[in-house]
Amino acid sequence: MFVKIEGTGSFLPERVVDNFEIATKVDTSDEWIQTRTGVKTRHIAGEKDTVASMATEAARRAVRDAGISPEEIDMIIVSTVSAEQTLPCVACEVQKALDARSASAFDVNSACSGFITGYQIAAGQMKAGLIRTALVIGSECLSENVDWTDRGTCILFGDGAGATILRADCRPEEIQIPAVLHADGSKGHVLTCSVGHGKDKVPFADYYQMDGREIFKFAVKKVPEVIGEILEKSGQEVDEIDYFILHQANRRIIESIAKRLHQDESKFPMNIMDNGNISSACIPMLLDQLRREGRLEPGTKLVIAGFGAGLTWGGFYLEW
Ligand code: COA
Repeated sequence: MFVKIEGTGSFLPERVVDNFEIATKVDTSDEWIQTRTGVKTRHIAGEKDTVASMATEAARRAVRDAGISPEEIDMIIVSTVSAEQTLPCVACEVQKALDARSASAFDVNSACSGFITGYQIAAGQMKAGLIRTALVIGSECLSENVDWTDRGTCILFGDGAGATILRADCRPEEIQIPAVLHADGSKGHVLTCSVGHGKDKVPFADYYQMDGREIFKFAVKKVPEVIGEILEKSGQEVDEIDYFILHQANRRIIESIAKRLHQDESKFPMNIMDNGNISSACIPMLLDQLRREGRLEPGTKLVIAGFGAGLTWGGFYLEW
């Protein structure tokens, strides 16, 4: 009775940048980065990789995995904060590349909560009986907007895309969406970037500026709270959940959330070590990885939660 994820796919650029290479650009070390963030390597887009090209490749793999034809897709949602252009939207470029003629297409920007937001929009459309099949993608080329002289941010981010095919396994009126979304715009200043919108009109620089400590505190407080809300809505107990799929911002954030929930860390899969923080792409990429590893079986209980710039946070419960 849920909106299920029937196919997953992901794309990572070829070029891998490890912490030792970062340490040749800024005053840092592999040891500091690993200890404070968990990140060992990240993938950085090549000349031909764009937000749209990465989204399209991840989408092709998800479509193949779901065993559907692109013509069956009714809606394409791309979550991104790093599109190279404002118009046309990335989702329309994906629609064109896949030749998904029946699909509507639009982008969402709620930063690292973007995949969560996209899922909830698509699920709501399914419950309203307006669509049957959705393609929800997170695609990011964050390296373009990183200040490579700022050791407080450049150590964290990477590029890539993750895609999912969503379908309900029941009639629209039977669909349950145990989900929540929150925002606190009054804290927007803790993570900013003005790329593409005329920097003289807004008070932000054209690269990511971040108060890392504030975001850290926000995440370890709000994510356990939002997980509590999701559990209440789904009628599940925390111990019944098989995996907590969280946005991959910092290994220590995830460890601290696991501790607050009194759950074993093995229930919190991570890919931050290999990929860094890829904003809205982290969660669909992690789902794709778990699926390929055979760790998601029918009935596996998941709580999926994201948080990030805006500030925004939220999540949902899903049985695989
Ligand atoms: N290498 C070495 N030293 C560094 C460093 C780096 N890359 N970055 C910061 N430092 C230094 C600081 O200058 C500071 O030095 P000081 O004590 O002499 O002033 C010291 O390390 C501690 O800095 P602090 O900012 O308190 O470190 P931290 O433990 O909070 O780690 C982050 C910094 C950015 C890794 C961490 O705050 C974080 O991950 N926050 C969340 C960010 C996030 O998730 N953003 C995306 C949102 S979705």
